[in-house]
Amino acid sequence: MNENPRMALTKGRLEKDTVNLLEAAGLDMEPVRKPSRKLILQVPQFPLDLILLKGPDVATYVEYGVADLGVVGKDVLLEDPKPVYEVLDLGFGRCRMAVAGPPEMAATPKKHLRVASKYPRIARDYFEGRGQSVEIIRQQGSVELAPLMGLADVIVDIVETGNTLKANGLVVLEEIVPISARLVVNKISYKTRRHEMNRLIDMMEKQLTNR
Ligand code: PRP
Repeated sequence: MNENPRMALTKGRLEKDTVNLLEAAGLDMEPVRKPSRKLILQVPQFPLDLILLKGPDVATYVEYGVADLGVVGKDVLLEDPKPVYEVLDLGFGRCRMAVAGPPEMAATPKKHLRVASKYPRIARDYFEGRGQSVEIIRQQGSVELAPLMGLADVIVDIVETGNTLKANGLVVLEEIVPISARLVVNKISYKTRRHEMNRLIDMMEKQLTNR
């Protein structure tokens, strides 16, 4: 068992939002706010260590109990489901998973669609669930390029402000699911460290209801 409970944060935007939330809950987040390349950080005067990871790895660390808790986007959990408890919708990191493409695609349904996405599983589940024949082309980023370059008919991607779509002449064609950050907990930690887990969950939940 880790000495202090360990929370895995998704580096970047979700990390900042989580740090703000923990700070509002009364924790000293100074070590995390200081610019550094450190990936393990101790919260002063409070039994909590933070580790910084990419989203999909957050869920893996929590699954294996290397981290007791984690903050990760629902998009990551849907794309790569893990046996962890999803205990809180943190409300930040809000965006939507959507099908997007050139505006003319709305009027021209195709028998077989080529779909580019960083989320092949979500894309496949969505289209197959509607009986649409698809070929999914996995991308690592800049997905909006695919329909512009003729690699795919449409994309499945997260849309936050819509600026990237707009800047590239694309529109949302269908909404798939709303996305936000979730607090996840390791299943064993939830039982064996129940008191510590509930304390942290309650602290965060309280802040959310105060907002
Ligand atoms: C994400 C996503 C969209 C964009 C949506 O990409 O894949 O491209 O943000 O945000 P918006 O609606 O506010 O414009 P990210 O910035 O992670 O870069 P990537 O293309 O390299 O994956």
